[in-house]
Amino acid sequence: MKRDLLCKVIEKVKINENIYKLTIEKPNYNKNIKAGQFFNFKCGEGDYPLLRRPISVALVKKDSIDFYINKVGKGTNALCEKKEGDYIDILGPLGNGFDLDIKGKNIVIIGGGIGVAPLLELTKQLSDMHVNIDVMLGFKKEAFIVDEFKKYTGSVSITLENGSEVNKGYVTDLLKERIKSKKYDYIFTCGPKPMLKEVKRIGEEENIKTQLLMEERMACGIGACLVCTCKVKRGKDDWNYVRTCKEGPVFYGDEVIF
Ligand code: FES
Repeated sequence: MKRDLLCKVIEKVKINENIYKLTIEKPNYNKNIKAGQFFNFKCGEGDYPLLRRPISVALVKKDSIDFYINKVGKGTNALCEKKEGDYIDILGPLGNGFDLDIKGKNIVIIGGGIGVAPLLELTKQLSDMHVNIDVMLGFKKEAFIVDEFKKYTGSVSITLENGSEVNKGYVTDLLKERIKSKKYDYIFTCGPKPMLKEVKRIGEEENIKTQLLMEERMACGIGACLVCTCKVKRGKDDWNYVRTCKEGPVFYGDEVIF
């Protein structure tokens, strides 16, 4: 069931210059929130800023949900101005989450930038399924959220584009290196488009199924405005535009056309 609801900000934590964690009271109608789903947040008071902003679910707890918000414009700035005790109008959960009806036990999770956030709930849900999870997270110059992942798996690696000799590089290079000595059954990923494209390519080359969480620009979040379309394969030689908010945001790698 999806509804608008005013939910209380329980906690706000500044993670770094651009990223805040908001812990929001959990709407009591949301019994099952899937990893990969998102909520559409009303950012300001009245009608400004007009459009809602889609924020992926990062971690579902008993009575609350954690969201990580990257300040990239007026809407997300307004969200980060919220104080503990304020109420936010949120709509969700929306979209289709990751498909966890999987065969095979060896999973690798690849995240990049703010796209690591929705992979945290995924890691938690997969750890409950007792599969082997390797998490690889890539950042530009500053890592965040890493200790949260370590609560659910002992295998968490990071790369920094501007890092030291030890961890400098792209997370996709780390994936290519690991694949030489370990056979994975699934890759789950979220992050910037060039990274998703490369993960999809590696998955196809190595014959590993991939699931990509696409973070397109959105407006309505419910399939009405067509702002969020992306190109996917339909049938052998056919393709179509679909709504990321409605048919996604998670797609199998072999569906998506970049
Ligand atoms: Fe409006 Fe997807 S955001 S159709």
